[in-house]
Amino acid sequence: MHTTRNVHSHTVAKKHTEKELMKKYLILYYSKTNNSKFIAERLSKELNCEMEMIESKIHNIGLLFFISLLNIPIPINVSKEKIKQYEAIIIVGPIWGGLLIAPLKSVIKKCIGLNKPFHFALTCESKESDKDSKYGYNTVLVKAKALGGNLIKSTSAFSTSLISGYHEKEFNIHVKAKFNEDNFSEELKNRVNIFVSKIKN
Ligand SMILES: Cc1cc2nc3c(=O)[nH]c(=O)nc-3n(C[C@H](O)[C@H](O)[C@H](O)COP(=O)(O)O)c2cc1C
Repeated sequence: MHTTRNVHSHTVAKKHTEKELMKKYLILYYSKTNNSKFIAERLSKELNCEMEMIESKIHNIGLLFFISLLNIPIPINVSKEKIKQYEAIIIVGPIWGGLLIAPLKSVIKKCIGLNKPFHFALTCESKESDKDSKYGYNTVLVKAKALGGNLIKSTSAFSTSLISGYHEKEFNIHVKAKFNEDNFSEELKNRVNIFVSKIKN
């Protein structure tokens, strides 16, 4: 009995220490053309926290797209031990073909496995007016929310169509709009601020 109580109090103490040692936020991003990396960097600066790139052994976009379409899980570099060290995870990545892509899904599943709260942001090129279309960001956020359930604490989306000086005709399938320091509009900055305040609340 005495021993059981000792073991119990030891476990409670250990949990307390683990919680005290926990860092606040970790940003995990997946990015092929650096838009999501750009947003991750902004968030990292605002939240004063670490960020790490999500990597998988599969690099080919076509193959990854197909894997995402078939809902096949893929291994990623980010370990559960890493995620465990933080109070909340912030996930940032792109939309491809209206899908919640496999690397992002893998991180979400790791958070679910650890009962870890997370925040989720997408980068995309579809316009605000198309957000509910098959390829729009709301469609993908709905998929993320369905998967994350009550662990997904807030969401956001950053479309390249919101950069300053965006003209639809100038950007097409060959010429992609990209975020940079000069074209990051007030609307995009505002979205970063809103997302940051939702994360902090
Ligand atoms: C294969 C592929 C499919 C895409 N499909 C969509 C889409 O369905 N909807 C959308 O809004 N943007 C789509 N995009 C645009 C990307 O989501 C957008 O450029 C994003 O910011 C890229 O992020 P990254 O630079 O971090 O890789 C697609 C891009 C690629 C390469």
